[in-house]
Amino acid sequence: MKTNLIVFGTRPEAIKMAPLVKAFIADSTFNTKVCVTAQHREMLDQVLNFFEITPDYDLNVMKPNQNLYSLTATIIEGMKSVLEEVKPDFVYVHGDTTTSMAVGIAAFYSGAKVCHVEAGLRTFDRKYPFPEEFNRQLTGKIADYHFAPTPLSQKNLLQENTDKQNVLVTGNTVIDALLYGIEKVNTNNFIDPEIEKLKKSLDFQKQTILVTGHRRENHGQGLINICTALKTIAVNNPEVQIIYPVHLNPNVEKPVYELLSGINNVILIKPLAYAAFIWLMEKSYLIITDSGGIQEEAPSLGKPVLVTRDTTERPEAVEEGTVLLVGTDTQKIIEETQKLISDINYYNEMSLLHNPYGDGKACNRIVDFIKNINIA
Ligand code: UD1
Ligand code: UDP
Repeated sequence: MKTNLIVFGTRPEAIKMAPLVKAFIADSTFNTKVCVTAQHREMLDQVLNFFEITPDYDLNVMKPNQNLYSLTATIIEGMKSVLEEVKPDFVYVHGDTTTSMAVGIAAFYSGAKVCHVEAGLRTFDRKYPFPEEFNRQLTGKIADYHFAPTPLSQKNLLQENTDKQNVLVTGNTVIDALLYGIEKVNTNNFIDPEIEKLKKSLDFQKQTILVTGHRRENHGQGLINICTALKTIAVNNPEVQIIYPVHLNPNVEKPVYELLSGINNVILIKPLAYAAFIWLMEKSYLIITDSGGIQEEAPSLGKPVLVTRDTTERPEAVEEGTVLLVGTDTQKIIEETQKLISDINYYNEMSLLHNPYGDGKACNRIVDFIKNINIA
């Protein structure tokens, strides 16, 4: 029997690995264990609750306002005993976080095969996003098997001389999660207190602009520019409501609350649990974000996205026209938002439903691929 160890630590990794955990656990030909680093705590736990996943191991590493040095070291150190106890044949890591990179290194030390889910995305600029581009490139170097979400990410890997037979185009597991999530949220007996609260506190007759932001390279002036733009948009368009679930990182929370509190059509709230967030995305008119995952989810929901970054490792939806890079230039954010609010033809062009990131079957493809590997 092949033994799998699936490891993740932050909110987006948890969302994107949850359907893979479910797919492997449903297959009794595998022995599958789950370990969370808990690089995030509350934002991770809400995902585990929604997908009904109880980890076998929890490193519980999160510290308030943690830094990359100690986070990396603590994760590598913490993984040693887990890897020695589980003795996995395959360790699965996801994407580009410190958890992915550090667990990849630890798994390599243990001799397990490293499987990289969401492999091959690139900006080719090691500083953007920071430190994620570097984390993803490094994890790609460590990995034995690469699950690329799109043909473009496969191409990036092949250009780096990755062995073609170890690269599989799967689609992004974010779509597997989204389809599961939307179905669950729309079932009659699903009652969610956060969704009920949003129904009471928001006026969906108004155009709703959903905002998120957390990227390290936007901390400081970038975030100030974004908030200045949001303030102007809110003041100039009283018929619009801006809802902003604010990331728990203190480098985000502090400036956002300082700059945007007290404007009556800007609603600042704590991060939403996944169920309420995908419900709110569906209800929104447009999204302004620097999130990677949201850039992938929005095209499936037909929502235009203004991305507050200068580059993206996810150019597919930019090329197809649903996603527009606006950087952190205050004026550009205001102009592009204003255009989407007032020009319905322009809005309709950008809000086409399409699925550049997957068909919801990525996890099945990964399971089938691993099944066919001979470990003897
Ligand atoms: C991390 C990832 C980033 C990912 C993002 C998703 C790295 C280097 N960064 O960035 O790639 O896009 O997660 O959100 O891996 N906090 C809490 N509770 C939580 C989560 C965070 O209080 O549940 C606060 C803590 O003070 C923590 C801080 O946020 O120290 C920063 O968390 P960290 O994971 O280091 O960075 P993120 O900006 O969340
Ligand atoms: N998300 C959530 N609650 C929120 C904001 C986002 O559940 O308040 C979900 C969102 O649907 C997406 C993921 O979190 O799947 C994106 O995470 P984040 O933006 O933190 O990280 P990134 O994708 O940029 O790495």
